[in-house]
Amino acid sequence: MRIFRFESVESTNDTAREERFSHADIVVAQAQSAGRGQRGNKWDSCVGENLTFSMVLEPSFLPADKQFLLLQVVALGISDMLKWYGIDAKIKWTNDIYVGDKKIAGVLIENDICGMNLSRSIVGIGINVNQTIFGRHLPNPTSMALITPDEFDLNQVLNRVAEAIMCRYEQLEQGNSETLIEEYISRLYLLGIKSRYALPDGEEFDGIIRSVDACGELSVEHPDGKVQGYLFKEIEFILGF
Ligand code: BTN
Repeated sequence: MRIFRFESVESTNDTAREERFSHADIVVAQAQSAGRGQRGNKWDSCVGENLTFSMVLEPSFLPADKQFLLLQVVALGISDMLKWYGIDAKIKWTNDIYVGDKKIAGVLIENDICGMNLSRSIVGIGINVNQTIFGRHLPNPTSMALITPDEFDLNQVLNRVAEAIMCRYEQLEQGNSETLIEEYISRLYLLGIKSRYALPDGEEFDGIIRSVDACGELSVEHPDGKVQGYLFKEIEFILGF
Protein backbone atom coordinates (compact mmCIF):
# COMPACT_ATOMS: atom_id res chain seq x y z
CA MET A 1 0.00 0.00 0.00
CA ARG A 2 1.44 3.34 -1.09
CA ILE A 3 -0.07 6.69 -0.14
CA PHE A 4 0.23 9.62 -2.56
CA ARG A 5 -0.60 13.02 -1.10
CA PHE A 6 -1.81 16.06 -3.03
CA GLU A 7 -2.69 19.54 -1.84
CA SER A 8 -5.44 20.04 -4.37
CA VAL A 9 -6.88 18.02 -7.27
CA GLU A 10 -10.17 18.18 -9.16
CA SER A 11 -11.29 14.79 -7.88
CA THR A 12 -9.12 12.10 -6.28
CA ASN A 13 -11.13 9.55 -8.29
CA ASP A 14 -9.80 11.11 -11.52
CA THR A 15 -6.21 11.32 -10.26
CA ALA A 16 -6.27 7.72 -9.01
CA ARG A 17 -7.36 6.60 -12.48
CA GLU A 18 -3.91 7.51 -13.89
CA GLU A 19 -1.90 4.46 -15.02
CA ARG A 20 0.99 5.11 -12.63
CA PHE A 21 -1.21 3.97 -9.73
CA SER A 22 -1.80 0.30 -9.08
CA HIS A 23 -3.52 -2.11 -6.69
CA ALA A 24 -3.88 -0.82 -3.10
CA ASP A 25 -2.46 2.62 -3.90
CA ILE A 26 -4.17 5.56 -2.25
CA VAL A 27 -4.51 9.08 -3.58
CA VAL A 28 -5.42 11.57 -0.87
CA ALA A 29 -6.01 15.30 -1.30
CA GLN A 30 -6.46 18.12 1.18
CA ALA A 31 -8.84 19.81 -1.24
CA GLN A 32 -10.89 18.82 -4.30
CA SER A 33 -12.16 21.48 -6.68
CA ALA A 34 -14.70 19.12 -8.30
CA GLY A 35 -15.34 16.36 -5.75
CA ARG A 36 -18.09 14.04 -6.96
CA GLY A 37 -20.81 12.31 -4.99
CA GLN A 38 -23.35 9.70 -5.99
CA ARG A 39 -26.20 10.48 -8.39
CA GLY A 40 -24.29 13.37 -9.99
CA ASN A 41 -24.08 15.33 -6.72
CA LYS A 42 -21.08 17.39 -5.64
CA TRP A 43 -19.01 16.36 -2.61
CA ASP A 44 -17.96 19.39 -0.57
CA SER A 45 -15.51 19.03 2.26
CA CYS A 46 -13.74 21.59 4.45
CA VAL A 47 -10.05 21.82 3.48
CA GLY A 48 -7.77 19.99 5.92
CA GLU A 49 -10.57 18.89 8.26
CA ASN A 50 -11.79 15.71 6.62
CA LEU A 51 -10.57 12.79 4.56
CA THR A 52 -11.12 12.76 0.80
CA PHE A 53 -9.25 9.96 -0.90
CA SER A 54 -9.44 7.22 -3.51
CA MET A 55 -8.11 3.72 -3.37
CA VAL A 56 -7.16 1.71 -6.45
CA LEU A 57 -8.26 -1.91 -6.41
CA GLU A 58 -7.72 -4.50 -9.14
CA PRO A 59 -10.25 -7.26 -8.36
CA SER A 60 -9.79 -9.20 -11.61
CA PHE A 61 -11.12 -12.34 -9.85
CA LEU A 62 -14.53 -10.72 -9.28
CA PRO A 63 -17.32 -11.20 -11.86
CA ALA A 64 -18.87 -7.86 -12.84
CA ASP A 65 -22.32 -9.08 -11.72
CA LYS A 66 -20.90 -9.55 -8.20
CA GLN A 67 -19.57 -6.00 -7.93
CA PHE A 68 -21.88 -5.41 -4.98
CA LEU A 69 -19.44 -7.51 -2.93
CA LEU A 70 -16.81 -4.84 -3.40
CA LEU A 71 -19.19 -2.25 -2.13
CA GLN A 72 -19.74 -4.39 0.97
CA VAL A 73 -15.98 -4.66 1.50
CA VAL A 74 -15.65 -0.88 1.49
CA ALA A 75 -18.71 -0.13 3.63
CA LEU A 76 -17.68 -2.74 6.20
CA GLY A 77 -14.08 -1.47 6.22
CA ILE A 78 -15.22 2.10 6.97
CA SER A 79 -17.56 0.94 9.72
CA ASP A 80 -14.79 -1.30 11.18
CA MET A 81 -12.51 1.75 11.38
CA LEU A 82 -15.24 3.80 13.09
CA LYS A 83 -15.82 0.95 15.55
CA TRP A 84 -12.11 1.05 16.40
CA TYR A 85 -12.66 4.68 17.50
CA GLY A 86 -15.72 3.64 19.52
CA ILE A 87 -18.24 4.91 16.94
CA ASP A 88 -21.15 2.60 16.15
CA ALA A 89 -21.96 3.15 12.48
CA LYS A 90 -24.62 1.63 10.25
CA ILE A 91 -24.62 1.13 6.50
CA LYS A 92 -27.43 2.84 4.65
CA TRP A 93 -28.04 0.68 1.57
CA THR A 94 -26.19 0.75 -0.66
CA ASN A 95 -23.10 2.38 0.79
CA ASP A 96 -23.67 5.51 2.84
CA ILE A 97 -22.26 5.31 6.33
CA TYR A 98 -24.57 6.62 9.04
CA VAL A 99 -24.33 7.28 12.74
CA GLY A 100 -27.82 7.62 14.18
CA ASP A 101 -29.80 9.31 11.41
CA LYS A 102 -26.83 11.29 10.09
CA LYS A 103 -24.34 10.66 7.32
CA ILE A 104 -20.68 10.47 8.35
CA ALA A 105 -19.14 9.05 5.17
CA GLY A 106 -19.93 8.48 1.50
CA VAL A 107 -18.49 6.17 -1.13
CA LEU A 108 -18.30 6.51 -4.90
CA ILE A 109 -16.95 3.42 -6.68
CA GLU A 110 -16.14 3.63 -10.41
CA ASN A 111 -15.46 0.25 -12.03
CA ASP A 112 -13.71 -0.77 -15.25
CA ILE A 113 -14.76 -4.11 -16.65
CA CYS A 114 -12.70 -6.50 -18.82
CA GLY A 115 -14.68 -9.42 -20.28
CA MET A 116 -16.90 -10.84 -17.53
CA ASN A 117 -14.83 -9.54 -14.61
CA LEU A 118 -13.90 -6.27 -12.99
CA SER A 119 -10.43 -5.09 -13.94
CA ARG A 120 -9.92 -1.88 -11.98
CA SER A 121 -12.02 -0.13 -9.38
CA ILE A 122 -11.51 3.38 -8.16
CA VAL A 123 -12.96 3.55 -4.66
CA GLY A 124 -13.58 7.19 -3.71
CA ILE A 125 -14.26 7.81 -0.04
CA GLY A 126 -15.20 10.97 1.84
CA ILE A 127 -15.22 10.77 5.64
CA ASN A 128 -16.25 13.68 7.85
CA VAL A 129 -13.57 13.66 10.52
CA ASN A 130 -12.86 16.96 12.33
CA GLN A 131 -15.44 19.27 10.73
CA THR A 132 -18.03 20.41 13.27
CA ILE A 133 -19.91 23.11 11.34
CA PHE A 134 -21.70 22.19 8.11
CA GLY A 135 -23.51 24.30 5.52
CA ARG A 136 -27.30 24.25 5.56
CA HIS A 137 -27.46 22.74 2.07
CA LEU A 138 -26.41 19.35 3.45
CA PRO A 139 -29.46 17.54 4.79
CA ASN A 140 -28.03 15.48 7.65
CA PRO A 141 -24.25 15.52 8.07
CA THR A 142 -22.24 14.46 11.09
CA SER A 143 -18.55 13.86 11.76
CA MET A 144 -16.29 11.82 14.01
CA ALA A 145 -15.54 14.96 16.06
CA LEU A 146 -19.25 15.67 16.56
CA ILE A 147 -19.76 12.20 17.99
CA THR A 148 -16.77 11.98 20.30
CA PRO A 149 -15.17 15.03 21.91
CA ASP A 150 -11.80 14.27 20.27
CA GLU A 151 -9.88 15.85 17.46
CA PHE A 152 -8.54 13.13 15.17
CA ASP A 153 -5.20 12.70 13.45
CA LEU A 154 -6.16 12.49 9.77
CA ASN A 155 -3.14 10.35 8.87
CA GLN A 156 -3.97 7.84 11.57
CA VAL A 157 -7.61 7.67 10.47
CA LEU A 158 -6.49 7.19 6.85
CA ASN A 159 -4.10 4.37 7.77
CA ARG A 160 -6.73 2.64 9.88
CA VAL A 161 -9.47 2.83 7.28
CA ALA A 162 -7.12 1.65 4.52
CA GLU A 163 -6.01 -1.31 6.64
CA ALA A 164 -9.60 -2.16 7.54
CA ILE A 165 -10.68 -2.10 3.88
CA MET A 166 -7.72 -4.26 2.80
CA CYS A 167 -8.55 -6.72 5.56
CA ARG A 168 -12.13 -7.02 4.28
CA TYR A 169 -10.80 -7.24 0.71
CA GLU A 170 -8.68 -10.25 1.72
CA GLN A 171 -11.84 -11.91 3.05
CA LEU A 172 -13.39 -11.41 -0.38
CA GLU A 173 -10.28 -12.74 -2.19
CA GLN A 174 -10.33 -15.81 0.05
CA GLY A 175 -13.94 -16.53 -0.93
CA ASN A 176 -15.53 -15.52 2.40
CA SER A 177 -18.36 -13.64 0.76
CA GLU A 178 -20.96 -15.34 3.02
CA THR A 179 -19.37 -13.73 6.09
CA LEU A 180 -19.21 -10.37 4.34
CA ILE A 181 -22.88 -10.40 3.39
CA GLU A 182 -23.98 -11.54 6.85
CA GLU A 183 -22.04 -8.74 8.52
CA TYR A 184 -23.23 -6.21 5.95
CA ILE A 185 -26.85 -7.17 6.66
CA SER A 186 -26.32 -7.06 10.43
CA ARG A 187 -25.04 -3.47 10.14
CA LEU A 188 -27.81 -2.21 7.84
CA TYR A 189 -29.39 1.11 8.75
CA LEU A 190 -33.12 0.66 9.52
CA LEU A 191 -32.95 -3.14 9.36
CA GLY A 192 -36.22 -4.48 10.82
CA ILE A 193 -37.49 -0.96 11.57
CA LYS A 194 -40.62 0.49 9.96
CA SER A 195 -39.75 3.51 7.84
CA ARG A 196 -41.03 5.45 4.82
CA TYR A 197 -39.95 4.63 1.26
CA ALA A 198 -40.75 5.99 -2.20
CA LEU A 199 -40.86 4.21 -5.54
CA PRO A 200 -39.86 5.83 -8.86
CA ASP A 201 -43.56 6.36 -9.79
CA GLY A 202 -44.02 8.50 -6.65
CA GLU A 203 -45.86 5.88 -4.59
CA GLU A 204 -44.92 6.02 -0.91
CA PHE A 205 -45.31 3.27 1.66
CA ASP A 206 -44.25 2.21 5.15
CA GLY A 207 -41.81 -0.63 4.70
CA ILE A 208 -39.41 -2.72 6.73
CA ILE A 209 -35.98 -3.71 5.40
CA ARG A 210 -35.58 -7.46 5.84
CA SER A 211 -32.39 -8.36 3.97
CA VAL A 212 -30.02 -7.83 1.04
CA ASP A 213 -28.83 -10.52 -1.39
CA ALA A 214 -25.43 -11.05 -3.01
CA CYS A 215 -26.42 -8.93 -6.02
CA GLY A 216 -27.32 -6.02 -3.78
CA GLU A 217 -31.09 -6.45 -4.08
CA LEU A 218 -32.81 -4.96 -1.01
CA SER A 219 -35.77 -6.96 0.37
CA VAL A 220 -38.43 -4.70 1.82
CA GLU A 221 -41.64 -5.86 3.50
CA HIS A 222 -44.76 -3.94 2.46
CA PRO A 223 -47.70 -3.18 4.80
CA ASP A 224 -49.59 -6.21 3.38
CA GLY A 225 -46.73 -8.48 4.49
CA LYS A 226 -45.40 -9.13 0.98
CA VAL A 227 -41.63 -8.84 0.58
CA GLN A 228 -40.43 -7.15 -2.59
CA GLY A 229 -36.85 -6.92 -3.94
CA TYR A 230 -35.41 -3.59 -5.12
CA LEU A 231 -32.22 -2.77 -6.99
CA PHE A 232 -30.27 0.49 -6.80
CA LYS A 233 -32.45 3.48 -7.82
CA GLU A 234 -35.65 1.39 -7.63
CA ILE A 235 -36.45 2.62 -4.11
CA GLU A 236 -35.66 5.72 -2.07
CA PHE A 237 -35.53 6.30 1.66
CA ILE A 238 -37.75 9.14 2.90
CA LEU A 239 -36.01 10.40 6.00
CA GLY A 240 -37.61 12.87 8.35
CA PHE A 241 -35.37 15.94 8.08
C1 BTN B 1 -21.61 10.18 -1.84
O1 BTN B 1 -21.99 9.86 -0.72
O2 BTN B 1 -22.34 10.86 -2.57
C2 BTN B 1 -20.26 9.73 -2.31
C3 BTN B 1 -19.21 10.70 -1.90
C4 BTN B 1 -17.83 10.30 -2.33
C5 BTN B 1 -16.86 11.43 -2.12
C6 BTN B 1 -15.45 11.02 -2.33
S1 BTN B 1 -14.31 12.24 -1.77
C7 BTN B 1 -12.99 11.39 -2.53
C8 BTN B 1 -13.49 10.84 -3.84
N1 BTN B 1 -13.31 11.81 -4.90
C9 BTN B 1 -14.48 12.25 -5.38
O3 BTN B 1 -14.61 13.10 -6.28
N2 BTN B 1 -15.50 11.66 -4.72
C10 BTN B 1 -15.02 10.69 -3.76
